[in-house]
Amino acid sequence: MAVPALHPLADADPTAAELIAARPNLSAHAMDGLALDGVPLNAIADALGTPAWVISAETIRARVRRLRAALRAAGLDAHVHYAVKANDHLAVLRVVAAEGAGADVVSEGEFRRARRAGIAANDIVFSGVGKTDAEIRLALEEGVGQLNIESAEELEQIGALAAATGRTAPVALRINPDIDAGTHAKISTGRARDKFGVAFADAAALYARATAMPGVRPVGLAVHIGSQILSLAPYRAAYARLAALARELLAAGHRVEQLDCGGGLGVPYRNEPAPSPEALANAIAGTIGGLNLKVILEPGRWIVAQAGLLLSAVRLVKRTGDQAFVVLDAGMNDLVRPAMYEAWHGIVPVGAADLARAPAPADIVGPVCETGDTFARDRLLPPLAPGARVAILDAGAYGSVMSSTYNARPQAAIALIEAGRWAEIRPRQPIEALWQDERVPDWLP
Ligand code: LLP
Repeated sequence: MAVPALHPLADADPTAAELIAARPNLSAHAMDGLALDGVPLNAIADALGTPAWVISAETIRARVRRLRAALRAAGLDAHVHYAVKANDHLAVLRVVAAEGAGADVVSEGEFRRARRAGIAANDIVFSGVGKTDAEIRLALEEGVGQLNIESAEELEQIGALAAATGRTAPVALRINPDIDAGTHAKISTGRARDKFGVAFADAAALYARATAMPGVRPVGLAVHIGSQILSLAPYRAAYARLAALARELLAAGHRVEQLDCGGGLGVPYRNEPAPSPEALANAIAGTIGGLNLKVILEPGRWIVAQAGLLLSAVRLVKRTGDQAFVVLDAGMNDLVRPAMYEAWHGIVPVGAADLARAPAPADIVGPVCETGDTFARDRLLPPLAPGARVAILDAGAYGSVMSSTYNARPQAAIALIEAGRWAEIRPRQPIEALWQDERVPDWLP
């Protein structure tokens, strides 16, 4: 009996050629096959094996520069704080820091990573709904630039720790503007029912409370409505609320120095229309620019997503009935985004001959023992033989950082490329490392 396909063949899918053409850092060579910023990906896969992450310093640098230029051109006094969670490798942080960006962090680990990469403490924004005492103490002792407050409870916690350490806590109040960013539910953060920020109605009173607390210095407001946002309308709505509140606070005589506009700018994974950083900068200028306050932006994905990809090789191609499954050596433990958010990632062949062959639909899956370990359904790809390599595109953000060792699969290697050369920046995890820290109590048989 014929079972209707779960996802009918989407003829809107861009072809490999269209995906490559839309990404200036990708090129297809008749001899070398697919290259990222001029480095043939086959050379990296030959040396490191697959799966392997590849990330381009050049692309990261270009993205930070473009964003900063856009903010400047819009007349904003703005500073970029890269959201470390998107890709926290020290080398990535070094590239971002060398471009003059600060960091947005959400844990002691991210704070220490940013500091190790040379980012000054006062250039760090510490966000997060559940900061520990130890994290707040560390941030205060190092002289953190801004602590984002997400609740009345946390304001009291920070006030007490500031008093105990004799430090002054520069705090920004994160508002929940109750705005739907129109993105995947799991990465939407600005609706009233989401756990983030303080209710808009409570904000003015909390700001006043913060002002009255010794050891706390309110510096402004913050908002972050979600991630992979592809429309400016929710941004405009959120920033309009932020501006209204800032005006109210200023009129009441409070000090408001800066507005943290969060991150969330989406990238065109599927070559879909996406707002440019210039358009976002203009939206910020149009909503809060008139206040002449300092502006903070916390982008993660937009900086690194399209700078990276996941290299993988075909293990085998199997057919069940009419369905072809291309089984890769990368799995959901490496890149979880398709399984977790139904995310669409471009998948293109790496080999020169494969790039030239006519495509046919296939399901692209990983080897992990879950049906969710599916990268794409009915994806048009040339027939791929075992050993053929593919690049899973736009995997520089929320890729390697979210990978796990599920199914006892070691973490993949990572390579960084720049100016025609490349270096391994994390070796593939040795298999023994999977259990080396485990202890079996000697009372077990
Ligand atoms: N600021 C705050 C307070 C955040 O929570 C986030 C992301 C960012 C900035 C950076 O957002 P971005 O510019 O990268 O969109 N793992 C998910 C994304 C989770 C985003 C969490 N917060 C994914 O793979 O789509």
